[in-house]
Amino acid sequence: MTTPHSQPLIPAPPLPSHRLSVLISEEEIQKRIEELSQELAADFRDKDPVVICVLKGAFIFVADLTRRMNFPVTTEFIRVSSYGNNVVTSGEVKLELDLANSVSNRHVILVEDIVDTGLTLQYLRANLQARNPASVKVCALLHKPENNVKLSTIDYLGFRIPGKFVVGYGLDYQGYYRNLPYIAQIQDLQ
Ligand code: IMP
Repeated sequence: MTTPHSQPLIPAPPLPSHRLSVLISEEEIQKRIEELSQELAADFRDKDPVVICVLKGAFIFVADLTRRMNFPVTTEFIRVSSYGNNVVTSGEVKLELDLANSVSNRHVILVEDIVDTGLTLQYLRANLQARNPASVKVCALLHKPENNVKLSTIDYLGFRIPGKFVVGYGLDYQGYYRNLPYIAQIQDLQ
């Protein structure tokens, strides 16, 4: 493969008609993740935290982030859905896969791919607080501030982006594009 990562790389059909434009390059993402991991190290190095990966969208972010966290940490997974195959939220968050282990008395780092309306984050915060953790902090790669979420609810943020639908680096459109190493907009979608 000779295509540079910074150039749009169109995955296999069935969505061949889309034109992707890179919004955040692979290099920019990796640089920001290094910075985030240093912030997390300063705050959690001695706290034995548990990282909760919100599936499916955060799986690549969590993989890259945790590999840069050079201190003891455990990892849990939870899956919620509110978008289905759509580009707008259904307004209802459903728990589809629960944590495998208790987070009682643990310092939780909840890792999200993107915060849009904030509905998913609100649901997850309430759900986790009910399990008596020592603390809950939120780390999100992307935030769309246009959609009125209070930024104070995101403790560690990668990038603010415009309110348009994005794909790549874990984020999908109809299940596709999660494997792109960069964040892109689909030109012909909006
Ligand atoms: P919220 O509940 O509206 O904040 O949406 C959060 C969830 O919706 C994220 O975890 C994503 O799964 C999904 N989502 C929101 N915006 C996008 C987008 O632009 N692309 C792909 N998924 C998105």
